[in-house]
Amino acid sequence: MNLLADRTKAFDSSGIRKVFDLAAKMKDPINFSIGQPDFDVPETIKEACIEAIRAGKNAYTVTQGVPALREKLQTRIDQQYGHKDRRVFVSLGTSGGLSLAMWSLINPGDEVLMFDPYFVMYPALTQLVGGVPVIVDTYPDFRIDLKKVAAAITPRTKMILLNSPANPTGVVASEEEVRGLAQLAAERNIVLISDEIYSSFCFDSPLVSAAKYNDRTLVIDGFSKSHGMTGWRLGYVHGPAEIIETMIKLQQYTFVCAPQPVQWAGVAAMDVSLGEQFAAYQRKRDLIYAGLADKYEVVKPGGAFYIFPKAPRGTGSEFVAKAIENNVLIIPGNIFSRRDTHFRISYAGSDEMIRRGIEVLRKLT
Ligand SMILES: Cc1ncc(COP(=O)(O)O)c(C=O)c1O
Repeated sequence: MNLLADRTKAFDSSGIRKVFDLAAKMKDPINFSIGQPDFDVPETIKEACIEAIRAGKNAYTVTQGVPALREKLQTRIDQQYGHKDRRVFVSLGTSGGLSLAMWSLINPGDEVLMFDPYFVMYPALTQLVGGVPVIVDTYPDFRIDLKKVAAAITPRTKMILLNSPANPTGVVASEEEVRGLAQLAAERNIVLISDEIYSSFCFDSPLVSAAKYNDRTLVIDGFSKSHGMTGWRLGYVHGPAEIIETMIKLQQYTFVCAPQPVQWAGVAAMDVSLGEQFAAYQRKRDLIYAGLADKYEVVKPGGAFYIFPKAPRGTGSEFVAKAIENNVLIIPGNIFSRRDTHFRISYAGSDEMIRRGIEVLRKLT
């Protein structure tokens, strides 16, 4: 008897499961697979969370988030953009924000443009609501070609998903690319979603948000990566009031609210800058790029903590199997792509581990 809903069958997770099955046999691997920073949550933020729990701030909150956090976020956003109609609410991580955006905006059959390679959740979340992922290829340099985007737009195009700095490539979209995309979305009345979860990890120049050029842009951001709080599930979304109000309505009937103590920790986190850690990540980026660039076809990443080289021969999956045999855990590119040619390294680890990993990867070419 098949009890599962049809919507669960549009996608599967077998690729990543296979990798982790192989990885289960590894002993003390050089682990380049982790999608989170290697620094711990700063003490002041932990204290704020513990303090909130002790003070009895443990109940539900209003669905849009405690006023102290929401107002602090709103003030910062208003200072940055000065858009009259821009509102914010607190979500359960960036993932919660993405899900609510899909439920709020996508009708069955609506097309959602995304750039390949893409963050794994994008096609799955689109299909979950009956939308159709429309893939715009960005190989080999992972830059956005506006002509390709324009050609992919149809009367059913409802949404464009932009992620910069990007997972899995680490590429940061240029100001020109962002402006062009923002203007195109505005002209064609398409919702532009800007997933800025890696905005703190931007090494060569500050991130330019699409919201600067298109005041209807829906920005999704959060504390997971910027403060090492991936397990705490705290994010936020800002954009046009009507969309935000609808997302809040849906949050009320689904996630209810972000964990209250974590919201208070978020208030403290907004005053904590991890500049030193981000500078360390820039050095790690330089280290891994310098270690691979003469041996692999690879684009120098401008942000996040990923790099996405091309497999030297065979498919990306075959190369990953070989790397795992040599105790290096990497993720095949086909998890994030229609192509199976590349692999993702997360260099969110110690310099020593990165050096050991480089040594092995150089031998595998
Ligand atoms: C591009 C991108 N967006 C969203 C997320 C989800 O982050 P969160 O922990 O805020 O749900 C991730 C996590 O890896 C990501 O890489």
